[in-house]
Amino acid sequence: MKEEILKLLKEKQGCFVSGQEISDKFGVSRTAIWKYINAIKEQGYEIEAVSKKGYRLITSPDILTYEEIEPLLKTKYIGRKILYFDSLDSTNTKAKDLAGSGELDGAVVISEEQTMGKGRLGRSFISPKGKGIWMSIILRPEIEPQSAAIITQIAAAAINLAAYEMGIRTYIKWPNDIILNNKKLCGILTEMNAELTNINYAIMGIGINANLDIEDYTEKVRKCATSLKIETGKSINRKELLARFLNNFEDLYEEFIIKDDIKRTIKICRENSILIGREINVIKRGNTVRAKALDLNDEGLLVVEYENGKIESLISGEVSVRGLQNYV
Ligand code: BTN
Repeated sequence: MKEEILKLLKEKQGCFVSGQEISDKFGVSRTAIWKYINAIKEQGYEIEAVSKKGYRLITSPDILTYEEIEPLLKTKYIGRKILYFDSLDSTNTKAKDLAGSGELDGAVVISEEQTMGKGRLGRSFISPKGKGIWMSIILRPEIEPQSAAIITQIAAAAINLAAYEMGIRTYIKWPNDIILNNKKLCGILTEMNAELTNINYAIMGIGINANLDIEDYTEKVRKCATSLKIETGKSINRKELLARFLNNFEDLYEEFIIKDDIKRTIKICRENSILIGREINVIKRGNTVRAKALDLNDEGLLVVEYENGKIESLISGEVSVRGLQNYV
């Protein structure tokens, strides 16, 4: 009911809606309406109440609920259900629990903060309250488990595209980081529950450093991580960035799932790759080997040439790549 009343207030675009109208429309008492209005205000909405006129919405808070994202969404099912939390240990952990109990394909778990955000290789991921986009998408792709690695690149391409649409040029560090001004802006952690031949569910965890301030990072992390706010000097609209990402993600994901076509994803990842043409370190099972990144092939594997002239196509998940001096 709270959501319906909020929707009505939003539809009125700052004009008054009377208590009578709300009451008639939803069949609830004036006292109940007042309680719902207070609950809406508690979420950070500014609502003016004037006797004989009713209620009107003045401002909406910077929160990533479905009600706030919905007007910007063009998707069919990705993000059509948003499970929104104020605080979670990790959205990936929550999404796994929910997926295990049958949560819908395309449902998205979002938390304003994570107290134990997870990165790849057992690392932690800094996720302060209200400053980033900390989210996990539940996916149920009907594909072979060995084809799932491409979903990480679909997400990387979709984030890159969303940033580009908002006037920000980012780069993709194969396979799962987005880079801005040579520092990490976003990380992707894809986890999977699968049998030999089928995927029960995949969790696509994404952390975008939107409005973090320099003080949110330790001296050490500052050298390799950044945020859109730090780099551009102004706060980014998180709702717009999230909606643009979800819209692009569904488009690219459907191309893959329905048409088995990853050409556009690969093109975006290739054209925006920060690694291609660079000397890198390939870290495989603890061993570090120097190589040159040559290309991203049509299957999304990173083609590298080692110093002895040997050429290899790397499968994501098996390796970690690093620049020679800095993060990229
Ligand atoms: C990495 O850079 O190693 C991957 C980072 C992934 C972070 C995101 S934030 C939302 C989701 N929940 C988590 O616990 N991790 C991912």
